[in-house]
Amino acid sequence: MAALFPRWSNTAVRVAVIAALGGGAAAVTAPMIWVRTPWVRHQNEPIDQPVQFDHRHHTQDDGIHCVYCHTSVYKAGNAGIPSTDKCMGCHSQIWPRSPMLDPVRRAYFSGTPIPWNKVHDLPDFVYFNHAIHVNKGVGCSTCHGRIDTMPQVYQAAPLTMGWCLNCHRRPEAHLRPLSEITNMRFEPEAQPESVRAALAAELGVRSNLDCSACHR
Ligand code: HEC
Ligand code: HEC
Ligand code: HEC
Ligand code: HEC
Ligand code: HEC
Repeated sequence: MAALFPRWSNTAVRVAVIAALGGGAAAVTAPMIWVRTPWVRHQNEPIDQPVQFDHRHHTQDDGIHCVYCHTSVYKAGNAGIPSTDKCMGCHSQIWPRSPMLDPVRRAYFSGTPIPWNKVHDLPDFVYFNHAIHVNKGVGCSTCHGRIDTMPQVYQAAPLTMGWCLNCHRRPEAHLRPLSEITNMRFEPEAQPESVRAALAAELGVRSNLDCSACHR
């Protein structure tokens, strides 16, 4: 049955069970659970973009490295979205007349950035930082899923506080060698426990559940 029902159906079942048992309490808790369901959170929903940019072509077929486009991911809080100049570095030669690239050429010649839609967007009261994660052994695919297989990017993880804390409580279970951070196929959980413990020691990773780490 697992294949028939997406993962969020578990939450839907829980809402139904609580509604059946709880009566009055359910009137309070059901909406609280509802706002955390993937329907409301837009989890797993591909986001339309002004250009049909496809990570499959760029990262698999052409083997362009994530950091070539998301240049600040190791250095800053934001990973960064590439400028139109970067696209035109290739596309002034590759497929220079493709209609799919019309909006890219228009943006380039008019000097207005392409209005990409955000796929991931934490509330403003949450502090997140890419550099700390990728320099401490947490890989892109652990939080973003298989971007290299997505025709359109979608949010693969729930990005709830519970999801963040689940890893922060025991981060060593999800670490990988720094050489594998952008490797989309690497599965940290498949490494022996001892290897992950050694990584945690080497990278000096500790558990961090302080409210002020993420709410500052
Ligand atoms: C040729 C440039 C390029 C390469 C290479 C590239 N990306 Fe992207 N990426 C983009 C652009 C442009 C967007 C914004 C449009 C979109 O969401 O598809 C984006 C969006 C994203 C987003 C969603 C951002 C948001 O709005 O939340 C993630 C996550 C991401 N890329 C991860 C990766 C990973 C991981 C790799 C390597 C496997 C990678 N990208 C390689 C150009 C690139
Ligand atoms: C390093 C070179 C390189 C960069 C940088 C690059 N692309 Fe591409 N892009 C390619 C190649 C090569 C193809 C053809 C892929 C194929 O057909 O397998 C392609 C294909 C495309 C297509 C499909 C075109 C068609 O007619 O099918 C779009 C749209 C596109 N790229 C958008 C972008 C955007 C937007 C950016 C900047 C965020 C970008 N590309 C950056 C190399 C690049
Ligand atoms: C620990 C989880 C985690 C890891 C690891 C991670 N990301 Fe992210 N990423 C996020 C979250 C959360 C957001 C949304 C941030 C926000 O809304 O403030 C995000 C947003 C993004 C964005 C769009 C906004 C921005 O930051 O410019 C891109 C692009 C991106 N990630 C690419 C990557 C790439 C490439 C890697 C690997 C080199 C990576 N991420 C590793 C969790 C992660
Ligand atoms: C898969 C594991 C994982 C996930 C998921 C994750 N983190 Fe982390 N996070 C880490 C690790 C590992 C560190 C580094 C801990 C250390 O300092 O040793 C870290 C550190 C941080 C720090 C820096 C704390 C400090 O001041 O030292 C912030 C902020 C943070 N994470 C925010 C978040 C937020 C917000 C989310 C959810 C959107 C999140 N993280 C999800 C593993 C994770
Ligand atoms: C590792 C990062 C992290 C830590 C540590 C953390 N939070 Fe959060 N918190 C988040 C994220 C992410 C959200 C946004 C969740 C969402 O959008 O649903 C959030 C949301 C909240 C909210 C808004 C209500 C809600 O549930 O959406 C409150 C209140 C809150 N946190 C309080 C706390 C307190 C108190 C602590 C310390 C015990 C704490 N947080 C520790 C990441 C964190």
